[in-house]
Formats: sequence, C-alpha cells, structure tokens
Amino acid sequence: MHSESEPASDAGALAPRAPSSPALAEPSPFLTGGAGLYDHSAQDPVSPAAGMWAGVTAVVISIVLGGVLIAMNPAFTNGKAAGTPNQLGPPVEAAAGPALAPGTPAFEGAQVLATKTCGGCHVIPGIAGATGAVGPNLGGVASRAKIAGGAVDNHGADDLKAWILNPQAKKPGTAMPNLGLTDDEATKIAAFLETLK
Ligand code: HEC
Repeated sequence: MHSESEPASDAGALAPRAPSSPALAEPSPFLTGGAGLYDHSAQDPVSPAAGMWAGVTAVVISIVLGGVLIAMNPAFTNGKAAGTPNQLGPPVEAAAGPALAPGTPAFEGAQVLATKTCGGCHVIPGIAGATGAVGPNLGGVASRAKIAGGAVDNHGADDLKAWILNPQAKKPGTAMPNLGLTDDEATKIAAFLETLK
C-alpha cells in the first residue's frame, strides 16, 4: 500500500541508467525482431530433432502396443465378447432349402418358382430373394394339415397344387391371387413345396 508518508531520502533509489548500455549498442543476432521473441533452441540441451524423434517413437510404440493388445483379445478366437457368456446362443442357420436332385419335379419346381412372383409375398426356403411378408412363410408348409388360415385341407401335393392353381376356388375371398400357372408349372411347384417339411 502506498502512503503519503514515504521517506523523502534517495536511499534505495535506482542508479541512473548508463547513457549507452553496451549490451544494446549493436543489434543482437538472436533478436528475431517482430514480437521480439528470442529463439533459444540452439542453446537447448536437447535438440529439436531429438524431441521430434522421441515423439515419433512414442507414436509408433503406441500404435504397435495397441495392435498387440487388440490382437491378444480372446474375443477374436472364441467368437465371444471377452469374459461374457455367449448370450446370442448358437449361430442361426441360414434359411437353407432342401437338397434337390437335378431333374426331379421338385428341382424344376424350384426353378419355376424363382421365375414367379411368389417370393414377393412369401418367404420360401431355398428360393433366392423370396422374402415377402404378405403371405405365410412357406417353410414347413408340407407339414401343415391345414393351410390358408385353416380354411383349406392339405393332405399332400395335390392339395397344394389345387391351391396355387386357383386359391379363390378353395377359399373365396382369400388375399392370395390366382397366378395363372399352367398345370405343369403347378405340378412342379407343388412337388417342390412338398419338400418343405
Ligand atoms: C400377392 C401376394 C401373393 C402372391 C404373389 C402369392 N401368394 Fe401365396 N399366399 C398369399 C396369402 C395372403 C396367403 C394366405 C391366404 C389365406 O390365408 O387366405 C397365401 C397362401 C399361400 C399358401 C398356403 C400357405 C399356408 O401355410 O397357409 C401357399 C402354399 C402359397 N400361398 C403358395 C404360393 C405360391 C406357390 C405362389 C406363386 C406361384 C404364391 N403363393 C404367390 C399371398 C400371395
């Protein structure tokens, strides 16, 4: 705190500056001008290059160590998240179709099916792209004693054939349209559907 009663003596006052300080007589080579910053890196005990390489080395070590730790994660070998029981259960089988011998009616039926629009409304195992959800999943249709919501008996290929040839005749008002199949197409498709137990 300042007060009005400072000693009036000169004791302790700064000595007057020498008229021309030798240090400032000539511009210093280390003065960079501008903001007046002084680049002292040439006098550092550690060179800037050494600092840079230390940094590069640290980055490389981090990357390598990170990769090693990731590779050591047991989840990669056992297919589970590390340390937790597998909560997903056994792997889900793809909707595999039945194995069909070439040349059989069922084999040809699968080929006919693939050219029809059935797959737009039905999931059909073994038929690529048949993922429709308008009608019932045809997986296991051959094992159903009744189809079309219980309205139509299904005792075998003949019943399936009659259904797909003319659904309306079997169940008036059904949402399944008449696809205009030929008798031969319907026979083969029914033979294929019979394999979907
Ligand atoms: C426009 C959509 C559509 C198309 C295309 C279609 N279906 Fe369907 N299908 C349905 C619907 C809806 C039902 C259910 C009918 C009902 O319950 O009245 C059905 C029912 C069935 C059933 C009985 C399944 C069960 O378990 O009840 C079979 C078999 C079947 N369709 C076969 C075929 C075949 C084969 C084709 C191609 C030739 C085909 N469908 C094309 C809509 C379709």
